[in-house]
Amino acid sequence: MTAIVQDTEGCGAEIADMAAARASDTEIDLIRDTVYRRGVAFLHGQHLTPEEHIAFAERIGPIVVNRYFPPSERYPQIAKVEKTETQTTNIGGGWHTDHSYDQAPAMGSVLLAVETPPEGGDTLFADMYAAYEALSDGLKATLSGLRAVHASEHIYGSKGVYGMTDQAHLAGHADNPSAVHPVVIVHPGSGRKALYVNPAFTVGFEGWSREESMALLAYLYQHAVKPQFVHRFKWAPGSMAIWDNRATWHHAMNDYQGQRRLMHRITIAGGPLA
Ligand code: SIN
Repeated sequence: MTAIVQDTEGCGAEIADMAAARASDTEIDLIRDTVYRRGVAFLHGQHLTPEEHIAFAERIGPIVVNRYFPPSERYPQIAKVEKTETQTTNIGGGWHTDHSYDQAPAMGSVLLAVETPPEGGDTLFADMYAAYEALSDGLKATLSGLRAVHASEHIYGSKGVYGMTDQAHLAGHADNPSAVHPVVIVHPGSGRKALYVNPAFTVGFEGWSREESMALLAYLYQHAVKPQFVHRFKWAPGSMAIWDNRATWHHAMNDYQGQRRLMHRITIAGGPLA
């Protein structure tokens, strides 16, 4: 079986003819190269046990445990991303990139679909290499000197946005890190430049007022999700996405009220950004 890689419109690439649980070292390299090049790799039909999911993720990189998401019962490495039939708020239901509030943000995630609604529950992915490359040389020059502050308290703290929803177990935390990162990073795996701000966690530019920051951030946010940079991924049980937080944003659609959706997420550790 030879794996086939097909770039998907806007962002990402689909890898067919590969069994993640039995991947060779060459296939793992192919996944990593695809993730670095296209920001996210999509696979289908990967009905992994939790042990296989953990073993596969460890081959992509060391696992880091998300401090906010509930862990699955017997496997602390696996976070449950769940919305039940009776909940109305989903997890990750706005554009973001994970863990940007950390000093050394997570490299990415290996998200496995366990239970999906009959319709809806897609995830949108946006390509931050392409979004950066499409900016004018003048704006690129302005952004190259900027650093941005990323925070988590407004989302996960005691007055955080999740606290006002039926996913309130995600909020109320006392340990809410923040970090400052360059607005344009050089991806450590591909060497390409990517835009590194996001609507959920970036609260402003270092040394700028909130009002000044929001004017430019609002421009970047609408630019980064233009249709040419976005791919909409449809899940089925056994679908898997391996994404790179340094090169993409993602947004879980919340359009399946009354249905259950359960995903198992393993987060891969990253490092400081430059
Ligand atoms: C997440 O933001 O990690 C969850 C994405 C999803 O459930 O599609």
